[in-house]
Amino acid sequence: MSLLNAARTVARTRAAPRLNAAALSVAARGVHTLPALDYPHDALEPHISGQIMKLHHEGHHKAYVTGLNTAEEAYAKASTPKAKINLLPALKFNGGGHINHTLFWKNLAPVSQGGGDLSQGPLKDALEADFGSVDAFKKKMNTVTAAIQGSGWGWLGYNPSTKKLEVVTTANQDPLLSHVPIIGIDIWEHAFYLQYHNVKAKYLDAIWNVINFKEAERRYIEAAKQ
Ligand SMILES: [Fe+2]
Repeated sequence: MSLLNAARTVARTRAAPRLNAAALSVAARGVHTLPALDYPHDALEPHISGQIMKLHHEGHHKAYVTGLNTAEEAYAKASTPKAKINLLPALKFNGGGHINHTLFWKNLAPVSQGGGDLSQGPLKDALEADFGSVDAFKKKMNTVTAAIQGSGWGWLGYNPSTKKLEVVTTANQDPLLSHVPIIGIDIWEHAFYLQYHNVKAKYLDAIWNVINFKEAERRYIEAAKQ
């Protein structure tokens, strides 16, 4: 081995532990990032405006990502149980906001990419079995979601105990834990107010035109396997 190669080998050997330590530090902090959408912000028009989508994605969701990273970093540095407990509300709110919105963007699709189209298959069969018809399911989901007091989410969830699809809700940014989420509808005012003002029912009617049922069916099949 030449002197130059020997020096390079020593340098690599010495540098490796420092790089690993840096990578571990980043992993420990749990750096989350804003996911890109699979479609342009205005691709869901006229059902959800581009202005709403841009603000919702780049403003609101980004704020949850930033808040989650800040809370996780503070939690990692917190040295007492009291200090850690004090951070739990921020972790739940921002973590839930990140989880819910990441799921929400995937459960929407432009009409040109199949949004609103529920083909014959396992999900349609299950909806008809558990709700009587697809229309009855949509009506129940809209009624239950519209009745949420304040901000929250309406969900079509798979109940692993009963093996059935059920409509449930969560408050604020609480993620759905009791069921496997199949379709989520954000009923925070930031999701609809700029376009539909205080008329939640119009937003809830319109959103079915851009629900990505293919993604919902993929989630349903995955959930039903377990
Ligand atoms: Fe939202």
